[in-house]
Amino acid sequence: MKEIRDNARKMMAPFCKVCPICNGRACAGQVPGMGGLGSGSSFINNVQALARIQFNMRLIHDVTEPDTSVTVLGKRLALPVLAAPIGGVSFNMGGGLAEEEFIEAVIHGCKAKAIIGCSGDGVPDFIHQAGFAAIKSAAGHGIPFIKPWEDEELYRKIDAAQATGTDTIGMDIDAAGLITLRKMGRPVSPKPLAKLTEIIRRTGMKFILKGIMTPDEAELAVAAGADAIVVSNHGGRVLDHAPGSADVLIDIADRVRGRITILADGGIRTGGDVLKMLALGADAVMVGRPFSVAAVGGLQQGVELAIDTLMAELKQAMVLTGTRAATDVDRKILFSRNG
Ligand SMILES: Cc1cc2nc3c(=O)[nH]c(=O)nc-3n(C[C@H](O)[C@H](O)[C@H](O)COP(=O)(O)O)c2cc1C
Repeated sequence: MKEIRDNARKMMAPFCKVCPICNGRACAGQVPGMGGLGSGSSFINNVQALARIQFNMRLIHDVTEPDTSVTVLGKRLALPVLAAPIGGVSFNMGGGLAEEEFIEAVIHGCKAKAIIGCSGDGVPDFIHQAGFAAIKSAAGHGIPFIKPWEDEELYRKIDAAQATGTDTIGMDIDAAGLITLRKMGRPVSPKPLAKLTEIIRRTGMKFILKGIMTPDEAELAVAAGADAIVVSNHGGRVLDHAPGSADVLIDIADRVRGRITILADGGIRTGGDVLKMLALGADAVMVGRPFSVAAVGGLQQGVELAIDTLMAELKQAMVLTGTRAATDVDRKILFSRNG
């Protein structure tokens, strides 16, 4: 991993310094780039919210080979992790790699390690086109995410996403905050409940709604017929001063758990972070920037190594907290001063 990270540092300069801990400080305000918007606080909050959570260590038990696998939206994953949708290599990551090379590394690296990679969307069109092509070349093993475009563009992209062979599609509804797209004459917008319901019904695929940060909107996602939500502030890239996703996850999970699949992302850097999110109520998580760094620095092999590292860390954290299965993570593994 060191070699891969050193290589990524050279290729991603000056957009990403590949810091020892990817916490949003060195890149604050760098959008485009790899940072969080404005002060960078929403990105930083993601990392800090997770860092504040501590584990109860338990060793008097018989868990030595924990089961890290989960089934999410009918797909069995070797560990409860998906690669978050990320696009725009040329203007976010220094362009040392073509969009196609990047997303192929992510999608095929995930497939090789029995997890799932997602593809991103934006302007120019080759971002989603490269993603769709990579998913198609992986026989539909991937999840395309599209932005909340207005009518014609939205439905055209949904149809093209379906043609990749996947049975699941996502929409990062929080990208309605990307005013740059509207300025480029490519409007994105929030969707009222009736409109969202119509979009999901018309799509006819498993539908993931990404960018849910409150229990009431999680409830609306259920009402609209979504199959999953991603508790996410878009890696801090759409609204400054949003809380960390780990801070809002618990209340969202308490409201909708069992009625919709819950994914979460933002600041997840280690297998321990993955376990924390599961304990807070996520069924699985998405990892963003660390997989991008791995893909830029080491292509598919880099992504595979990053997944192996997360797997080893997750197993270790499960053993040390006495967690037998990723499908059944007890909130009691988290330390609370009040017991
Ligand atoms: C450079 C960059 C590009 C992104 N592009 C997209 C995108 O096209 N679609 C999307 O849903 N999210 C996009 N995201 C957000 C990620 O999917 C994810 O929510 C976020 O990166 C998770 O936080 P983490 O990077 O701290 O793990 C992007 C994030 C970054 C850093």
